[in-house]
Parts: sequence; structure tokens; C-alpha cells
Amino acid sequence: MNAANSRTPSTGTKGLDEVFLQRRSIRAFSPEPLTQSEIDTLFEAARWAPSSNNSQPWKFVYATDGPQRGRLNSLLRPGNQSWATAAPLLAFLVARKGNSEGRVFRTNQFDSGAAWMSLAIQAARMGIATHAMGGIEIDDVYEELGLSRDEYDVMVGIAIGRQGDPASLADDLREREAVPSDRMPLNDVVSKLK
Ligand SMILES: Cc1cc2nc3c(=O)[nH]c(=O)nc-3n(C[C@H](O)[C@H](O)[C@H](O)COP(=O)(O)O)c2cc1C
Repeated sequence: MNAANSRTPSTGTKGLDEVFLQRRSIRAFSPEPLTQSEIDTLFEAARWAPSSNNSQPWKFVYATDGPQRGRLNSLLRPGNQSWATAAPLLAFLVARKGNSEGRVFRTNQFDSGAAWMSLAIQAARMGIATHAMGGIEIDDVYEELGLSRDEYDVMVGIAIGRQGDPASLADDLREREAVPSDRMPLNDVVSKLK
């Protein structure tokens, strides 16, 4: 992530670890491959996420190149395919709904979100960008990954890599890339119970 298009701390962010502002869902990825050691570290961060009863319901399936990567690329909706196929790694995150003893994991999606965010924050610390995508072909993901709807919720695709040149993007995406997203005011999402 370079300084030019990172978010600047503003009022209300005092004391906040800068990694939360550095992390951005960029679309201009450099094709430079990630090392296996970097990849392992990212998934290791996800592995240490908290989960209900330590159920760890997340599963990541990834590919970097070759026919496997082509298979995963084809699971993205066209709008996401237009930029995410340039990222050196594409992962899909699915959430197990329960275990073989019949226990239902009620918070499987919440827990898997924690794993994704752990990965994203670890990546930001390493200067690696991540971009989650809900725009995926859900039916095709179940089929391609050989997963049953009874056992798994398909969550997101995740593009991972280093920041590249925004000039590689189509005009509309390049313009969006230049403007980091903002957030609702804290008071809109947090209230102290009276
Ligand atoms: C569950 C989820 C699904 C998302 N789906 C898409 C998507 O399909 N395509 C896309 O370009 N961005 C997608 N995003 C990225 C969001 O638009 C982005 O996180 C949000 O605008 C905030 O921007 P930031 O991540 O740069 O802070 C998704 C993010 C999440 C967490």
C-alpha cells in the first residue's frame, strides 16, 4: 500500500492502530507472486481467529496459477473477474455448518468473518492487499469445490497480492481506486445502553 492513496487518520481515530486505516480493498493488483512463506503466514493468521467453542468452521481453498487458478477465476462474477484475475492469489472462503456429531455451528459465518479479517489485517501488516468479493457464482462454487449445501455456506472469494498500477484498471475502476472508502459516524453504529 503506498501513502498516496491510503486513508489519513482524522478526528475520532486517536489511538487507533494505523493498520485499520492502511487496509483497503484495492483492485489494481501487481502480478508479482507471493512467496509460499507469505501465503502460509496469511493463512496462519486466519487459523488463529477466535470461534464459537473453538469450532474453526472456516475453510480456505486457493490457487495461484495453472488450470486450478483458471477454475477459481471462473467462479467470480464478470465485474470482479475484470480486475481480480490479475491478483497472484485467489482464495474462496466457505464456512462449515456443523460437525459430524450433529452439532450445529450457529455462528459459522461470523467465525469465518473473523478468520477473513485476521488474514486481511496480517496481510496489511505485511504490505499485502486483500479484497473480499461477494460477487461470486455461488452454485458454481459448490459444484467446482465439491461441497454440499447441507454442510457448507459459501462466503466470499478473496483476491490477494501486492498493490499494482491503477493504470491497469478500466476508467471507472481507476477513479474509484483513487478514493478510499469512508465510514458512517461512530454514533450511527455504536450506542451506550441507557
Ligand atoms: C463480504 C464482502 C463482500 C464484498 N464483495 C465485493 C465484490 O463483490 N466486489 C468488490 O469489488 N468489492 C467487494 N467488497 C469490498 C467492499 O466493497 C469494501 O470492503 C467496502 O467498500 C469498504 O472498503 P475498504 O475495504 O476499502 O475499506 C466486499 C467486501 C466484503 C466484506
